[in-house]
Order: sequence, then C-alpha cells, then structure tokens
Amino acid sequence: MNEHVSLPIPAEEATQRPNSRKVFIKTYGCQMNVYDSVRMGDALASEGYVTTEEMAEADLVLLNTCHIREKAADKVYSALGRLREMKKTRAAEGREFMIGVTGCVAQAEGEEIVRREPAVDVVIGPQTYHRLPQALKSARTGRRVVDTEYAVEDKFEHLPKPEKATTRARGVTSFLTVQEGCDKFCTFCVVPYTRGSEVSRPLAQILDEAHRLVDAGVREITLLGQNVNAWRSEGPDGREWSLGDLLYRLADVPGLARLRYTTSHPRDMDDKLIEAHRDLRSLMPYLHLPVQAGSDRILKAMNRRHTAAEYLRLIERIRTARPDIAMSGDFIVGFPGETDADFEDTLRLVEEVGYASAYSFKYSTRPGTPGAELGDQVPEDVKSERLERLQALLLKQQADFAKSCVGKVIDLLLEKPGRMPGQVIGRSPWLQSVNVDAKTSQIGDIIPVRIIGTGPNSLFAEPAERLMRA
Ligand code: 5AD
Ligand code: SF4
Repeated sequence: MNEHVSLPIPAEEATQRPNSRKVFIKTYGCQMNVYDSVRMGDALASEGYVTTEEMAEADLVLLNTCHIREKAADKVYSALGRLREMKKTRAAEGREFMIGVTGCVAQAEGEEIVRREPAVDVVIGPQTYHRLPQALKSARTGRRVVDTEYAVEDKFEHLPKPEKATTRARGVTSFLTVQEGCDKFCTFCVVPYTRGSEVSRPLAQILDEAHRLVDAGVREITLLGQNVNAWRSEGPDGREWSLGDLLYRLADVPGLARLRYTTSHPRDMDDKLIEAHRDLRSLMPYLHLPVQAGSDRILKAMNRRHTAAEYLRLIERIRTARPDIAMSGDFIVGFPGETDADFEDTLRLVEEVGYASAYSFKYSTRPGTPGAELGDQVPEDVKSERLERLQALLLKQQADFAKSCVGKVIDLLLEKPGRMPGQVIGRSPWLQSVNVDAKTSQIGDIIPVRIIGTGPNSLFAEPAERLMRA
C-alpha cells in the first residue's frame, strides 16, 4: 500500500487565481486517505485555496495521516517537527503558515497532538473533514480546533462538489469511497477504533458521484471501503443491495469502462459478488483479498473468522467464475504466538494461491487493540527474518506473473505521460503499470497492446493491431 502519495494537482488552477492561498496536502497510508485528501482539497477550494505540490509555497500544510502501524504515527511527529521550524521562519517574514493534522492519527491522538506539537492549528478526524474551512477560520482568530467527533451529519452531503475541469485534471481513473469503518475487529487492527463501525454511503449518492466523474472524463472507478464488500444500501426495488448489485448497476453507466473495488474481507465475498466477476467485462480481473496468515491457530487469534482452507476454497470459487483473475493479499508476520510451524503454514498458503501482487508487514503492536494485551510477542529479529523470506517468495510470484504476461495482447487504459517523450503509462486489467509508445492525446483511450518485456515494477508493450485474447 502507498505510504506517501502526493495529490495530482490541477496546475492550471494555480495560474488562474494568483492571489489565492495555497494548500499542500501530504497523504499517508491507504487509498481511502488519498480519496479523503482529494475531497479535502475540494472543501478548501470553495474557500479560495488551490492545491500545490510544493510545500515551500504553501500557506497551509495538511498531514492526512495513517495509524495502521507504529512507524506511520512516528513519521507524522517527525514531519510536524520540521513544519514547526517552517512556521517560525514564516512568522519572522510576517506570512501566514498553518498546520493541520487530519486522518487516523488525528482521530486516535486528538488533543495529544497539540500537546506534543503546539505549532499545530487544527486536528480533524476522518469523519469531520467537511468542517475544515470553519476550523481554519477559528484557528486564525487564535482558537485552535481539535474535532474528532463522529459527526451526526453526513460529511459527504456537506462536501462541495469539485468543478468539472478540476476532476478532469485529476486524471482518467478515480477512487470513490462507498463504505467506511469496520466491524470485524481483527485483534491486531486499529481501524475499528479510528474509523468507527461500518457505514455505507447510500446508492443514490454513489451513482450521482459516479456519473459526475464519468461526465468529466473518468474511465475507471475504484470503489473504496475499509471493508468494501460489506457495503449495503436499499436498492430501487426495495431490496437490500450488496456490493455485487452495485457493480452490476455501475457496469450500465455509459462511458465507465473499468471497475475495481478494494479492500475486501473473505467473509463478505457473497455469491452475487462472485457472479459479478463472472458476468461483468468492465469489472477488472484483480482482487485484493487479505488473508494475513496461513495458520488456523493464528487466524483464530487474529479473530479473522475464517480458516486457511475456507480462504483457499473461496479463491477456487472466484477462479472458477473468472479464471484470469489476479490475486493480491496482505500478510502479517510475527503476530504474538506465531511459531516457525505457523509461519511455514503462511508460506504454504502463498505457494498454493500464487499471488500476482501482495503487501506484507511485520506485526506492529497497536495500543488499545486486543493483540497488544497478548503475551508471547515475537522477537524483532525473528519477525525480520520471516518477513524477508515471505517477501522473497511474494516477489518471485509477482515476477513470474509479470513474465507470464509477455507475448499477450491486452487492453491497456492509457493514464498519464511516461518518463520518456512519446511514451504513455497505462494499466493492465491486472493493475500492472505498462509503458507503451503512444500520444498523450490518447490518454483515456483503451488500446490493444502486446506485452514485450518486464521491468522491476512495470511492463513494456507495443501497440497491437488487434485484440487476441489469451
Ligand atoms: N501490524 C502490522 N500490520 C498491520 N496491518 C493492520 N494492522 C497491522 C498491525 N498492527 C496490515 C494488515 C492490513 C493492512 C492494511 O495493514 O495486513 O490488511
Ligand atoms: Fe482491520 Fe480486520 Fe477490519 Fe481489515 S477487516 S480493517 S484488518 S479489523
């Protein structure tokens, strides 16, 4: 998962409004934070702020933070130390410089942030970022704001919609948050505490946003949720709709060529969702389905509510529905009590599944979660050694998968200019980055290309005459 993501900036806006204030938003953590950063940019745009990619020219810096692992929060505090120094320099120049902390560290630490770092002006949790403009106003009058409530109002209803040109400038792919929070309570995880319990956005709101995106030129939408496949909403037929129903509905939106969703829990992969993979050509054959561990004993201690065999059976069913699906997952090594034999079970499960991509982490104790109370913590060097072995295996699988694509003709969605002139970067159906010779005017098109080689993190392709499905 991305640890640092800068927002795509509609650069032309900055030149249109030279006197406006500038905001730099640094995004840590998952795609849900990337989406939130975009929406915070929208909320601030209505107050005259334009986004900038240069921290040095910003009047406001927002750190949109992640609390999933210990290191993530540490990074925020060291970044705040640097911002404090910048604020001092700016004050000496008589220029405004405000600092805001948003996201999951804001939610979890609240007042503690301003106690540790008094230079911070606003602390806003993920449920209240629509109140950011008012919070900044009040901070300007000397009243620092810490707002980490679970707002009663729906933030999405209160967020201004971006202008079409702004959406277009953000690119041809977009995230769309449909669900937030988690009720699963895996014993290692802070999400149920920082993001709260599961809430689904209503169908009409999602369709409205999807149409707005497509209208502005977006070709691919990735539906987001901490537990996206737990999404539920009343459908027009009065029935309760699940994520599968939503995908069937979105597949009918003209111009919307590609659909993805992330992140899913194995327990919530229902029949309808699996059928959607069988039936919908616009639903891309890629599924991020974290398993975390391969030992039933550890899965139980993690409160994952499924066994390794159940996970494997599920993947078998998904592969029957969509044979070319590429699997992705998350893994944690060194959960308290994990023995060598448990870890071997994880390696075995990985061998059995064959992942096209994966994310793996050392267990990190999160205060307040049940995992933190467990004895039998695994020593750091053991965790490091296990992670190294697991990552070597996962990387090999990823490279093997990439190699297996060479020679195939695939559909490529052209997304952005490449590093070399005359090159464009696109995405394969399996979420791989692909370089191809094409014109930037083709960005947004889906073209047939032949994969001709692999690089460390991407593939190389040449335009192909016609599509011969492998
Ligand atoms: N330690 C290590 N990794 C964690 N994750 C969540 N909590 C922790 C933790 N305490 C990982 C899981 C999850 C991903 C988003 O982050 O693998 O799926
Ligand atoms: Fe965390 Fe588990 Fe919920 Fe995923 S399913 S957000 S790992 S508690």
